[in-house]
Amino acid sequence: MPGGGCYRALYSPAWSAASELVAAWLKEAGLLVRRDAVGNVWGRVEGSRGGRAIVTGSHIDTVRGGGALDGALGVVAAVEAVASLVASYGRPTRILECVAICEEEGSRFNTNLWGARAIADRIEPGEVERVRDGDGTSLADAMRAVGLDPAGVAGAVRRDIDAFLELHIEQGPILDEQGPRLGVVTAIAGTAHLEVTVRGQPDHAGAMAMTRRRDALLGASAMALAIAEVAVRMGHPAVATVGTIVVEPAQVNVVPGVARFVIDARHSDPAARADLVNEVTNACKVIARERGLDVDVRAVRDRPPVRLDPRIAEVLRRACAAAGVAPRDMTSGAGHDAQVLAAAAHAGMLFVPSIGGRSHCPDEATAAEDVILGARALATALRELSYQS
Ligand code: GLV
Ligand code: MN
Ligand code: MN
Repeated sequence: MPGGGCYRALYSPAWSAASELVAAWLKEAGLLVRRDAVGNVWGRVEGSRGGRAIVTGSHIDTVRGGGALDGALGVVAAVEAVASLVASYGRPTRILECVAICEEEGSRFNTNLWGARAIADRIEPGEVERVRDGDGTSLADAMRAVGLDPAGVAGAVRRDIDAFLELHIEQGPILDEQGPRLGVVTAIAGTAHLEVTVRGQPDHAGAMAMTRRRDALLGASAMALAIAEVAVRMGHPAVATVGTIVVEPAQVNVVPGVARFVIDARHSDPAARADLVNEVTNACKVIARERGLDVDVRAVRDRPPVRLDPRIAEVLRRACAAAGVAPRDMTSGAGHDAQVLAAAAHAGMLFVPSIGGRSHCPDEATAAEDVILGARALATALRELSYQS
């Protein structure tokens, strides 16, 4: 895309091409391949003893201008790990599956973790019709365009998954700067999205005196600075980001009358996250009052922090040790499919370093030997879970 990087938006041609490529790899590895009701691609090997499935994978979509590894690493490593386990050890005792989850990022539609929520039966009533992309296309129409039936979303629900393992890049600097080369995720931070609408007064950019303006964008800018200061003051792992803003009427010679932005606020501790949300909300209200603006702060998303499964974390620690690494226990600041699938299965995650901590940008990278180490540890963990005698 312009400016570099990948953009595989849900149900777009790039997304379809990637899904087909993964399906071809899974077929080549001898797995039974299917696309579910929302477009998650599954590859399955039957276990000799049946029972609940051991699943590994990650998401196939990306943010705009994203990197090559966020999500894709976990998909490619899943295919590689399962294919090599089957090639080396034959049929597992447990059902073993790979999944390329159709959407996690919320890039095209403001509905993140769509694929994992469909598996975990967490889709909201009416969501397919209600949610629209920037062009006004509904999720339902986007599904139809790739041959999926929006009335059949419930068909993606799985109640027979025992464990879900996800390999992912860290997306922050801890492993790269402080080591070791593998991390076991014990918890995933909760995310709140607050939509803020600031209303001032549109005026002529040439004729209205600076001292008499009620400029909504200047108010929103002061709020963005104050929001970041709140998170800095609370300290790690509190984070708060304003990543999107629109103004009205968005004309070069008009003082902005309205500014709308979304605050993404995260913390791994539920009480601290509630404090963070209250403090950023108050900061916006104080600034609006000082500047004679109206402000409305509305919670549009609230995903609580999630603890991952301690038993799977132990399996992952043993797998890291077998690869020669004593892993670090970590909390993920980024959101992941595992946080939703934790409601439907015993979920665990393994991190490899992100060079310079860079992610959600074209420079996202991980050393090849760390990718191999992570994939190897994933395969070892899957072997322990799915080749039990
Ligand atoms: C997705 O990467 C998120 O953490 O929002
Ligand atoms: Mn991401
Ligand atoms: Mn991701």
